[in-house]
Amino acid sequence: MNIENTLNTAIKTLTQFNIPNANLDSEILLAKIIGKDRNYIILNPKENLDQKYFFKFSNLIERRKKGEPVAYLTKKKEFWKNDFYIDQNVLVPRPDTELIVEEVLKFSKKKFKLQILDIGTGSGCILLSLLKEIPSFYGTGIDISKKSINVSKYNAKMLNLTNRVKFYNSDVDKFKIGKYDIIVSNPPYIELLKLKYLDKDLCKFEPKIALNGGIDGFSVIEKVVHRTSFLIKKNGKFFLEIGYNQKNKVKEILTKKGFYINKVVKDYGNNYRCIISTKI
Ligand SMILES: C[S@@+](CC[C@H](N)C(=O)[O-])C[C@H]1O[C@@H](n2cnc3c(N)ncnc32)[C@H](O)[C@@H]1O
Repeated sequence: MNIENTLNTAIKTLTQFNIPNANLDSEILLAKIIGKDRNYIILNPKENLDQKYFFKFSNLIERRKKGEPVAYLTKKKEFWKNDFYIDQNVLVPRPDTELIVEEVLKFSKKKFKLQILDIGTGSGCILLSLLKEIPSFYGTGIDISKKSINVSKYNAKMLNLTNRVKFYNSDVDKFKIGKYDIIVSNPPYIELLKLKYLDKDLCKFEPKIALNGGIDGFSVIEKVVHRTSFLIKKNGKFFLEIGYNQKNKVKEILTKKGFYINKVVKDYGNNYRCIISTKI
């Protein structure tokens, strides 16, 4: 079979299984299998595919049709300006989370040698993107998941950042090392009951520990704010990602812990997504 026919069969299968973006996903997966980029796939539709590629590709399409995220199949996701290694042990980085990076960069102009802490670092996508952008900053990432720390360390190595970053496998509750100028966090904030109604990619394949915010969705946020109030320097800035319906309650939690709310930023879907505050 040639590239075009192989793609058409895959697109038909994914469409039958209600997978959104069936065309794009099929192209990305085929490109991964033959070790080329998407442009090559699009520009060479009549090229014949070696049988060994065809079987490998069919296997990925089988997994994709059951809802497994493309990032877990390709072991890669682009976030901000870099590709990150991604596997089942970490959340797939979301475009909305790039808001935190954008806001920290605005704040960091003309600042040097600041210390950043990332709570719930996962793949390390937020922290490592920031360190890549600002060569004078130093970073620390923590996560309750040991396996995710292995992934973030691997990404630090791939991005040549090991000399400016440290990672710790720790529950935020127990982390007591250092004082930070900037703290960033995208904690799990989904209500336990809502988790099972989320689309099938999320429920079946992404780590529950990365999504589960407890009964009301606020249990990890509360812990993160509590520890941040000790770990952050006076006048330090705190950038926190929240769920679309959590703005008012999180503002309250922050204010009670001695933070002044600077602003709440909306994401591309017009939902309140990131609260920026200062420790007073
Ligand atoms: C929503 S994911 C965010 C991952 C990554 N920062 C990102 O934005 O893609 C939340 C992360 O917090 C971690 N986590 C959950 N509870 C934690 C806790 N009590 N202490 C530290 N990390 C925690 C999870 O393992 C997960 O990696």
